Amino acid sequence: MADFNLPKKLLLGSATAATQIEGGDKNCNWYQWSLDGKVGNGESSLTGADHYNRFKEDINLLAELNQQCYRMSIEWSRIEPSKGKWSSDGIAHYREELSLLREKGILPLVTLHHFSCPQWFQDKGGWTADTAVEDFISFCEKVVEEFGDIVNEWCTINEPNVFANDTYMDGKYPPGHFGDMKSYFKVSRNMVIAHIKAYKLIHRIRTEKGFSGETAVGFAHHLAYFESSRKGLLASLGRGLITRLFQTVYFKGMVEGQLIAPLGSGYPEGKGCYCDFIGVNYYSRHIITPTLNPGALFGTIDFDPNVPDERKNDLGWEIYPPGLYKVIKKCWDKYKLPIHVTENGLPDADDGKRASFIREHLKEVKHLLDDGVDVRRYYYWSLLDNLEWNDGYGPRFGLIEVDYNTMERHVRPSAEYYAEVCKNHMVKEAIE
Ligand code: BGC
Repeated sequence: MADFNLPKKLLLGSATAATQIEGGDKNCNWYQWSLDGKVGNGESSLTGADHYNRFKEDINLLAELNQQCYRMSIEWSRIEPSKGKWSSDGIAHYREELSLLREKGILPLVTLHHFSCPQWFQDKGGWTADTAVEDFISFCEKVVEEFGDIVNEWCTINEPNVFANDTYMDGKYPPGHFGDMKSYFKVSRNMVIAHIKAYKLIHRIRTEKGFSGETAVGFAHHLAYFESSRKGLLASLGRGLITRLFQTVYFKGMVEGQLIAPLGSGYPEGKGCYCDFIGVNYYSRHIITPTLNPGALFGTIDFDPNVPDERKNDLGWEIYPPGLYKVIKKCWDKYKLPIHVTENGLPDADDGKRASFIREHLKEVKHLLDDGVDVRRYYYWSLLDNLEWNDGYGPRFGLIEVDYNTMERHVRPSAEYYAEVCKNHMVKEAIE
């Protein structure tokens, strides 16, 4: 692979989510989930990477690593720790963090919901409650009024498909239900409607208040590349069904405003285009095998068992860069909307594969750009080692290593490599 250039208009950076790195939040539902022993090795979201206290150090590192954009989330439970009560400390904290990013010339993309919520919201039934959308929109309104002057790029909801699946089908996230398909659909429907309302709200507030900068609102979709294990009608039906349930219903809802079966029907908030960009979180390729077991959403989704170890990350997921091209191209051909690669990364504790992972995926981004696809951002996941949700702190996704005993940060060699890429917009073949 020869060296290649990337255009300057493609901003390069990294992504995080509050609950995975901040630590210290007892009002978040992941705190109770940790107390219930549901996080690997008895670990707790309370630990985090102490980012809440060390955000200045971390933003300095971001700047030293030449990153131009940063995707972060604002934790709902920090802003509204109990229903209807706004925390001035939480608001002041994020104001300071976002202002510092701006001072350093790093463009923030703020996620409003990244898998966690306040415990009070969870206690009301979380995203299955009839009041869920209203509660979420009231939080969004507060956040956009508070920070809309310094944030113009917003990601409403992270991975509604993974969230609905892991909360109500796989039982990995609170409230930990298994095979509860009715709730899976209810959560998905509520998230679609919440996204559309948040989209309208963000545009309205930023316009009314005359905030500067082009408003860009989207959501982050988890798009794995799906392949069938077999040929034939049943296999293609299985793949089609899974693609519909895991990907298409969210595109239809969050981009076009349309509810399609099994989420519902019609246009609950009117027909329109409710994304200024599409956020793509891409990690791997999955093989679908059809099954008639409804608990498995009519098909099993696995990694290819024949992939050699050198092409797997520390969690055993296949490293498959061409999938990034394929999922984005499909999305572009359908919607022609700007693309943000809102997450792409791997757990790689010894840092042996991360630099080439970044290089190979950026090569796919380059192909997309050459083919006319409007890719505008690339956020490596993640800036820091973090809480990999129910898997705990074992998997190491960070460009920056965190020593959880001392909370010291160590910049990994791959981060130095990526820093050069960010600085020159030139991707080198040689990894020193
Ligand atoms: C999520 C992140 C998570 C990452 C790696 C995405 O599904 O948005 O929060 O850490 O994948 O599993």
